[in-house]
Amino acid sequence: MGSAFTDAETTAQMNAEPVDTGLPGVFRHRFHVPEGVRYFDGNSLGLMPKAVAGAVAHTVSGEWANGLIRSWNGAGWRTLPQRVGEKIAGLIGAAPGQVVACDSTSVNLYKLLVSAVRMRPGRRRIVTDVDSFPTDLYIVDEVAAQFGRTVQQVPARDIAAVLDEDVAAVLLTHVDYRRAEIYDMAAYTRAAHAAGALIVWDLSHTAGAVPCALDDCGADFAVGCGYKYLNGGPGAPAYLYVASRHQDQCAQPLPGWFGHARPFDFAAQYAPAPGVDRYLSGTSPVIALSALYAALDAFDGTSMATLYARSLVLSDALIEGLDTRLERYGFTLASPREKDRRGSHVSLRHAEAYGVMQELAQRGFIGDFRTPDFMRFGFAPLYNTLDDVAQLVDAIEQVMREEAWNKAEHRVKRGFT
Ligand SMILES: Cc1ncc(COP(=O)(O)O)c(C=O)c1O
Repeated sequence: MGSAFTDAETTAQMNAEPVDTGLPGVFRHRFHVPEGVRYFDGNSLGLMPKAVAGAVAHTVSGEWANGLIRSWNGAGWRTLPQRVGEKIAGLIGAAPGQVVACDSTSVNLYKLLVSAVRMRPGRRRIVTDVDSFPTDLYIVDEVAAQFGRTVQQVPARDIAAVLDEDVAAVLLTHVDYRRAEIYDMAAYTRAAHAAGALIVWDLSHTAGAVPCALDDCGADFAVGCGYKYLNGGPGAPAYLYVASRHQDQCAQPLPGWFGHARPFDFAAQYAPAPGVDRYLSGTSPVIALSALYAALDAFDGTSMATLYARSLVLSDALIEGLDTRLERYGFTLASPREKDRRGSHVSLRHAEAYGVMQELAQRGFIGDFRTPDFMRFGFAPLYNTLDDVAQLVDAIEQVMREEAWNKAEHRVKRGFT
């Protein structure tokens, strides 16, 4: 084991507050880490912050059971989308009044892309990264079909070169979901604006792990998931960002009474609420929002810069393990080696990736597999440690040495990978 992996204090101090392993910013003690599990999937579904269980119990057994409908006002249910939104805003470089938590990332993307296209009438193309997460591609195709536009899919690095006065909108994921490459938010936003287009950012693999500065970059719109590095739980509400300068000109395509200026007028005609609130559609999922609201407290007392510095030390450690111990088994690095281009997960490629990940999971090492041969290991800087990474490299090496990926049971593909 190389010295970069020596993090003996980490495990011993796991439950102390705060843990200083030489890497600032670990808040592992705020999370429930299941016995026997080494978790590298915070980029898919974050660990459960301990505070969430109590918060949800309070919402259910107190606010719902006893407060009943009075809790919409009395317990602040009505303003949860905005209050959760403000907590997320602080993690993504957005000033107050621009983020709300609601719906799923897919649905929010639909709302924002339609808004963008409507703000650029006469422009016929929407440009996106050919390697975008599939839901983004499905939504952009549907928006184009509904509004008589076409979609141009190109590699992210070619986007600037294809922009012209015919482009209405650009959709780009800030941190690529498969390889974790970071795309320069300021540069892509500038390029879109230079062509007169609007840009929609997908921050699903950014928020909570990688710094971003939506306002400073002049971004127009953004969406992201609540269940990944934000740790809001399975199917947690997503969020959306609309720059203040656009809010009062935007029309969203799913107007509902929660986004109405005066919902309790029960007016027959829709009148959008001022600001970003108009992007709410139907009744808010209060229990899920309460979980996300409590989960976001896990970020108290740290900063995105500190967390990202931690993340890079962790991902560097896996890359060092690849170079010194895993390459000989046929693993290659799919993520950028350069720190300034790398998000918070590391993707390795291997011909037997599926079997390796299945065997690792049986041994308590949880990452994920992405087709065709990607093994993704997420480093959630709030809770992953160098000790986790050291154990992971040992485990992968052991699986390869034993050829344990080659079991019949690992040839059956599961529904959720
Ligand atoms: C980049 C990206 N966008 C969107 C999604 C999913 O969106 P939704 O929450 O609507 O399923 C994911 C899910 O992993 C993702 O990685």
